[in-house]
Amino acid sequence: MNKAVIGLQWGDEGKGKIVDFLSEDFDLVVRYQGGNNAGHTVIVDNNTYKLNLIPSGVIRGKDCYLGQGVVLDLEHFSKEFNQIRKKVLNPKVFLSSNISLILDYHKQLDKINESILNNNKKIGTTSKGIGPAYQDKVGRKSIKLYDLKSKNIIEEKIYAIKRFYDPILKKFNESEINVEQTTEDLISFYDLVKDLIVDNSFVKKVYRNKKILFEGAQGALLDLDHGSYPFVTSSNTVSSNIIIGSALQVDYQTIGIFKAYATRVGNGPFPSELFDDIGDYIAEKGVEFGTVTKRKRRCGWLDLVSLKYSCEINRVTELCMTKADVLNNLSEVKICKSYNSKKYEDINFSESEILDSLSLENSDFEVFSSWGNITKLSKFENLPDNLKKFTSYIENYLNIPIKIISLGPERNQTIIR
Ligand code: IMP
Repeated sequence: MNKAVIGLQWGDEGKGKIVDFLSEDFDLVVRYQGGNNAGHTVIVDNNTYKLNLIPSGVIRGKDCYLGQGVVLDLEHFSKEFNQIRKKVLNPKVFLSSNISLILDYHKQLDKINESILNNNKKIGTTSKGIGPAYQDKVGRKSIKLYDLKSKNIIEEKIYAIKRFYDPILKKFNESEINVEQTTEDLISFYDLVKDLIVDNSFVKKVYRNKKILFEGAQGALLDLDHGSYPFVTSSNTVSSNIIIGSALQVDYQTIGIFKAYATRVGNGPFPSELFDDIGDYIAEKGVEFGTVTKRKRRCGWLDLVSLKYSCEINRVTELCMTKADVLNNLSEVKICKSYNSKKYEDINFSESEILDSLSLENSDFEVFSSWGNITKLSKFENLPDNLKKFTSYIENYLNIPIKIISLGPERNQTIIR
């Protein structure tokens, strides 16, 4: 059966490591949304791989595909692909010709968008141009990978884009769009990647009876429609976007992945956020610093109210829990079980103002004793009783089994049940 690994929180749940781990049993690993705003570090046999766009299945030599729902910064992709080529023999990576490109002016617009908002209204984006690139896709202005075959088409499209955006760029003292330079850059990037470009029907045909693993980027609570708008990313991160974003009409089961606590980077509501020493401790011990922006992540207790919502909107059938080892020296560990006695059915998660009115003081917690060092365990039966109580509580609350537990960054620090 095809599978999808979807983040159930605000991203950074450890999808990269789990996709690397699971990909052994799959033929193709697919990204279907987002861009180089995502990022993971995967450690295998003391080798560290930093990936933003290419699915981590590439490390095992699996075929990888970036579908039409991805927005692609070609400069970034070319660097990442070159890095991977130094470490992996003949990496097989395909790009859908229908991918929309991120250009420099998207990054300028991302900066402008943030600069005009008051401090507490800033989204805190990764500044990679993601929002403006999706805006152009919806606005039918995008330059697509398939356009790069023709210098005339590139020039014609950029001229139109220039007419539209130059007045804004000028107003905010940003450099105007240089048609010649942009065209030249795109043509040289095209030379680097043209052998990787395929159309959607190619992937459909070649992988018809093969096993496919879908790698979500960001997390369900950052979904454009389901997340706390406007503090979201600009794509649909949930599993139902897989078919649109990959153009592969296949069935799949969804593995929902979550950390034993919660983190968020960027602004927006976070009802179980910790503002004390414990929050700092978790950030430090869990190395909770953004892979893309290096920002310190906000940390808090595991929040089952939002997790239940995420499981529902992604139709999750099994769970994977990561980073319980980060909590092992705390005297007690908490789980948020309701917001002021409100269950997830009573909350509108897509309206940030409603979520904002909820906070730690108004949340109800279940308290657990911690579990000591677990990083070397390899069987579920051997987990300490306190950790088993923690996992049982989560499973009962969500009514979904936890099938994978990750206890450290290495492949072999993974328990399957
Ligand atoms: P954008 O995706 O750069 O537009 O940023 C929108 C919001 O999503 C900001 O709060 C970012 O910090 C957050 N975000 C985007 N990508 C990721 C990710 O991969 N992990 C965690 N947060 C992310």
